[in-house]
Amino acid sequence: MAKIVVEGLKYRYPLSQKLALNDISFEINEGEFIGIIGANGAGKSTLCQALTGIVPLFFKGDYGGRVIIDDVEVAKSNLSEISLKIGMVFQNPFTQITGSKLTVYEEVAFGLENMGFEREEMKRRIDDALMLLDLYRHKDKNPFDLSGGQMQRLAIASIIAMQPKIIVLDEPTSQLDPQGSNEVFKAVSDLKKKGITVIMVEHKVEKLSEYADRIMLLHDGRLIDFDTPSKIFSKDDLKDYGVVEPVFTRYCKKIGLKDERGLYPVTLDEAVNLVVKKREHNS
Ligand SMILES: Nc1ncnc2c1ncn2[C@@H]1O[C@H](COP(=O)(O)OP(=O)(O)OP(=O)(O)O)[C@@H](O)[C@H]1O
Ligand SMILES: [Mg+2]
Repeated sequence: MAKIVVEGLKYRYPLSQKLALNDISFEINEGEFIGIIGANGAGKSTLCQALTGIVPLFFKGDYGGRVIIDDVEVAKSNLSEISLKIGMVFQNPFTQITGSKLTVYEEVAFGLENMGFEREEMKRRIDDALMLLDLYRHKDKNPFDLSGGQMQRLAIASIIAMQPKIIVLDEPTSQLDPQGSNEVFKAVSDLKKKGITVIMVEHKVEKLSEYADRIMLLHDGRLIDFDTPSKIFSKDDLKDYGVVEPVFTRYCKKIGLKDERGLYPVTLDEAVNLVVKKREHNS
């Protein structure tokens, strides 16, 4: 059971005056797709690091509360044990490529070699990861000859080859063009279909609303709200947290188009369905 339980999590970076994470508690169930949003400095990256153990096992500082993954308390574990349960993908695909491997295949093999898997098991894992990320046909290419979207998918494949049950992605599309972003979103939704828990920091709220089961809103180190995309983006004080709603939601808010629960649509499909429903109701 890859369930995540966070209880009263507090963290202050060394030499910093301010709490980067301030009394955060939540639970994430196995197989959920979770989005994390919030203004610059809200604590999104720090929270990702706390989930993957980088905080406090690598970054020291003042730490309180608990992060528990699969009944294991992260702060009392070690990074290699945690990396089997939860993998992390960063913003910049270039910095995640080793730079020393000549092919995409060898790049994915790198992490596994370090973990001492036997040949057959390694090959099976690499093939599976490359297929899942739609990179198998590029397996003999040099990683640096890939597009941005392909390179970011390679970073994800290298993590997936470790077969973690949870993957955390910190703004994985922010350096990609629209095509690359779409590729990464598609890849990540395929991971969810495989039962992997996905936690993704993302500013592209239109896309996030399409895919996320729930969205976490952070501000100034605090957890402001954690709910479905329509509940989060129907809030009327989003501006206070430096967040904007999806363009469809903004438009619906302007014209007062909401459902019977008082919630605004967050995707184009939802907006169209609501208009059709209202028309049928009125005719
Ligand atoms: N290495 C560090 N040392 C000291 N303070 C840090 C460090 N990294 C982040 N902080 C501080 O911790 C707080 C949370 O930062 P964090 O990077 O987690 O925010 P974020 O929501 O990811 O922001 P962004 O949208 O800019 O990526 C900020 O006040 C930031 O200045
Ligand atoms: Mg960040």
